[in-house]
Amino acid sequence: MKLNYFLIALFFAVVSCDKYTTRQAPIGIHFDVEPHALDEWDTDYNGICNEWIDLLEELSGAIEDHFPIESLRPHLTVAIPRWYDNRNFTRNDKELVLSEAVQDISNMHIAIMDYVDNTESVVKDARTEVEYADSIGSDKSVSICVETDCDIGSQPESVTFCQEGTTAMEEAFEGVWEAFADSTGFREVCVHYYQSYTVLDPQYTTGNPRAMYVWHQEVVDEAEDGEFMTFSKDHSVTTIYIESQDLVSSDENQKKLATFLNTTKTINLQIEMLFGHHIWARTENHHIAVDLAKEASYFIGNLTVVCVDNCNNRGVCLRTGECECITGTGDYCTTEDDNDNDNDGDDDIVSPSYLLHSLIWLLAILSIFIHLY
Ligand SMILES: *[C@@H]1O[C@H](CO)[C@@H](O)[C@H](O)[C@H]1NC(C)=O
Ligand SMILES: *[C@@H]1O[C@H](CO)[C@@H](O)[C@H](O)[C@H]1NC(C)=O
Ligand SMILES: *[C@@H]1O[C@H](CO)[C@@H](O)[C@H](O)[C@H]1NC(C)=O
Repeated sequence: MKLNYFLIALFFAVVSCDKYTTRQAPIGIHFDVEPHALDEWDTDYNGICNEWIDLLEELSGAIEDHFPIESLRPHLTVAIPRWYDNRNFTRNDKELVLSEAVQDISNMHIAIMDYVDNTESVVKDARTEVEYADSIGSDKSVSICVETDCDIGSQPESVTFCQEGTTAMEEAFEGVWEAFADSTGFREVCVHYYQSYTVLDPQYTTGNPRAMYVWHQEVVDEAEDGEFMTFSKDHSVTTIYIESQDLVSSDENQKKLATFLNTTKTINLQIEMLFGHHIWARTENHHIAVDLAKEASYFIGNLTVVCVDNCNNRGVCLRTGECECITGTGDYCTTEDDNDNDNDGDDDIVSPSYLLHSLIWLLAILSIFIHLY
């Protein structure tokens, strides 16, 4: 009988072990669900807007439920076209601006698909959303993304920097940084997407930091000195939004993603897990997107993140593997490679399930004693 208790406790201790140890966790979960791509956008505009906002609230809720502690919570980013600030709809008898309804959702970041091809338009089209983020105190929440794809079907050439090239794109980024440098709501500029970017003047860059969409999830198989890593490093890519639907679908792929988090950490490249399909905007498909948000949350929640740099006695380790400086008492962070805050001779570990596991192991060991005596 006692042996059974021991075996049960041991079983839980083993299965509840954190799945992977990594040097950083994904910083966010990113959804590209574009309701305007649905046929119903024209026939039932208001209904579709509401179904989509319902979905975004469900996604936000699912992530918050899994990460009740705000500092441990990955943010939610949603991609929206540049013109949603010009669309109103009615929700619960109130007339709302579509982009504002998104930005009002808790824990929400937006990535504006600012698909125009000159500095003035790129800045102008993002201004309303950045100012709105400023006004509601939504910190560093707006990414401003441009298109580089040359294969744009029937859309006008003005949606992409394909013809203008990287010099014009870098100028636009410069313009964005200038216009929004003081805006708390402005987060970063970004490029859609890795593969089209590589064929656009592949060598040219100004060194300004940027994010990048990556729909080609096979890049996780790459080593530190592979093409993708070299390109990202050479083009000052600091965050990638990487398609993750397959990556969360099996243990084998999750392991690849965990390893990739380590590889990308070597060039301080952060990761948002990206998922996208316009059909998820419909109520009957919400469960697909919500399940993916949960899978991503489980993956992130089960990581044990070790801090590898910049956390000496002055800072606190964050789940992303970064160090947050302690301020206000004259303390500061140094660049010493020391992450042993509690001076126990080990790298410090942060994980929400860490305490739970310690408890379960304690129970297991206790069971042995109960069994023996
Ligand atoms: C959209 O709604 C906002 C807020 O209710 C309102 O201020 C604005 O005038 C409306 N815009 C249009 C084009 O109807
Ligand atoms: C990531 O790096 C950490 C620290 O160096 C190491 O302990 C861990 O095993 C690595 N994880 C993977 C999945 O390779
Ligand atoms: C770890 O993953 C399991 C599902 O595989 C999930 O039920 C659990 O909540 C996750 N733990 C954390 C701390 O996220």
